[in-house]
Amino acid sequence: MKITVVGAGAVGATCADNIARKELCEELVLLDIKEGTAEGKAQDMMQTATLLGFDTRIVGSTNDYTKTAGSDVVVITSGLPRKPGMTREELIGVNAGIVKGVCSNILTHSPNAIIIVVSNPMDTMTYLALQSTGLSKNRIIGMGGILDSSRFKYQLSQQLNCSPADLNAVVIGGHGDTTMIPLIRMSTWNSVPVTQFLNQEEQDKIVRDTMVGGATLTALIGTSAWYAPGAAAAALVESIVRDEKKLFTCCVSLQGEYKQNDICMGVPVIIGKDGWEKIIDFQLNETEQAAFDKSADAVRSMNEVLKTL
Ligand code: LAC
Repeated sequence: MKITVVGAGAVGATCADNIARKELCEELVLLDIKEGTAEGKAQDMMQTATLLGFDTRIVGSTNDYTKTAGSDVVVITSGLPRKPGMTREELIGVNAGIVKGVCSNILTHSPNAIIIVVSNPMDTMTYLALQSTGLSKNRIIGMGGILDSSRFKYQLSQQLNCSPADLNAVVIGGHGDTTMIPLIRMSTWNSVPVTQFLNQEEQDKIVRDTMVGGATLTALIGTSAWYAPGAAAAALVESIVRDEKKLFTCCVSLQGEYKQNDICMGVPVIIGKDGWEKIIDFQLNETEQAAFDKSADAVRSMNEVLKTL
């Protein structure tokens, strides 16, 4: 098994670190455009191997894609991160060009890879990756909902004063501050609906705080978060390489599911050895479907911007 992480910034390096610790592959390539960064971080991580007890070989590369040849899974984290006050959508101009170039290089050397897109604005970058690679739709997975769902469970656990591990909660829709949809109605604490324990005001606050989860961290840290995004991307890789068939919310191509077409958006999917294997298309109520349609309109108008670049 060979995995490549493109982009050795904070998210890419954290993702690589998680992949190595979990020993998800024999060879892990970390690639970055900045001279020496990937080699340096790869060496630094390799020097933790005996301390942490993993046996994955990590190779750094400054933009040499021949080193990535034959990768089974590729995680794309390249591009600019958000600065405080910025939306993910504002990154489209720069990041679209970067992601398109990366996809083309990846495809040349790993024509059968499963691609995980992390770069923002993620829903549009996933759509771009699908269009520009021509790979089968099941091999292109955008990482957003799994992260937003994890942030949702964190917010719920803080309010309920419980273990996040006892919670089931999903965020669907776009991966944007105003486009994501935390489904509080369906969230449970060990099977009991959380709505039984939270009043409306508390529920609304949890939903709001979840939606701006990334922006809150960007304001605190000064740049985009990396621990949870890196761990979320690695969890997707794990479900692929171990064929776990985990149910995660991911951004995938919709062809009629959730009443949408020609768009990539966050919905619950099964993740296994073939990429995303199945969309779990369940009945939303009227309010949720309306929110999903509104989210789709916003994602679609961002996709339209691609045509002008
Ligand atoms: C975030 C970035 C990865 O939400 O989109 O932190």
